[in-house]
Amino acid sequence: SNYNWIELDAVDSTNNYAMGLVHAGTAQHGTVVLAHHQTKGKGQRGKVWATEPGANLSFSIVVKPGLLINQAFQLLATVAVTVRNELEMYIGDEASIKWPNDLYWRDRKTGGILIENVLRGKDWQWAIIGIGININQTSFGDLKNPVSIKQITGKQTDVTAFAKQLHTAILNALMQLKETGFTSFFDDYNQHLFRRNEVVRLKKETRILHTRINGVNLQGQLSTGIETEEYFAFGEVEWLL
Ligand code: BTN
Repeated sequence: SNYNWIELDAVDSTNNYAMGLVHAGTAQHGTVVLAHHQTKGKGQRGKVWATEPGANLSFSIVVKPGLLINQAFQLLATVAVTVRNELEMYIGDEASIKWPNDLYWRDRKTGGILIENVLRGKDWQWAIIGIGININQTSFGDLKNPVSIKQITGKQTDVTAFAKQLHTAILNALMQLKETGFTSFFDDYNQHLFRRNEVVRLKKETRILHTRINGVNLQGQLSTGIETEEYFAFGEVEWLL
């Protein structure tokens, strides 16, 4: 393709490397940084994203969002929906999105998304879309509930080929988001939301909530509750699985 494709054996974090390109002025819309090993992979909320060298997909796509920063959920949801779709087609079995940005197969985590933003004033100039997918790894130490594509399908996957497919699908989806708007991605996100309409346990500070997952609103807040609806923003509640 015409996009910059940077593929490294190892790096601290592809998101950090991509951020360096943005700051050096050498990033373009669609630029990819893929690494076969991350020594300091980053997860959501300051967590570590650690994977076996050479086994998984860790990559970042730099984009010009063309949205307002208060529409950040539109970008996240569009990416999540697209990766979920590709994953489902590839494994030939249902995949879901665990709010806000985890990819699930059954009740196990296949991957995650970490988007970092570059703003100038109020202008959302760049987004670095970091995606990690468990591909060929088959043992995960004491991680809670991970699963890889290999464990699901029994087959080895070419990491770079899979990344190319995701990259194309994501850039197409972002074009569609701009041309036709968020509605269909929003509906898709809610349709495939992990544990939707089920009662789950969430933790808010020290409180354990037993509540139903109703869906998300346009801002990406989670709607919960049976008689009375209560919304939670990212980081306000934690899942207890
Ligand atoms: C999460 O589930 O907490 C998000 C995981 C995101 C991991 C990816 S791997 C590529 C990119 N570079 C990073 O350091 N993190 C993201």
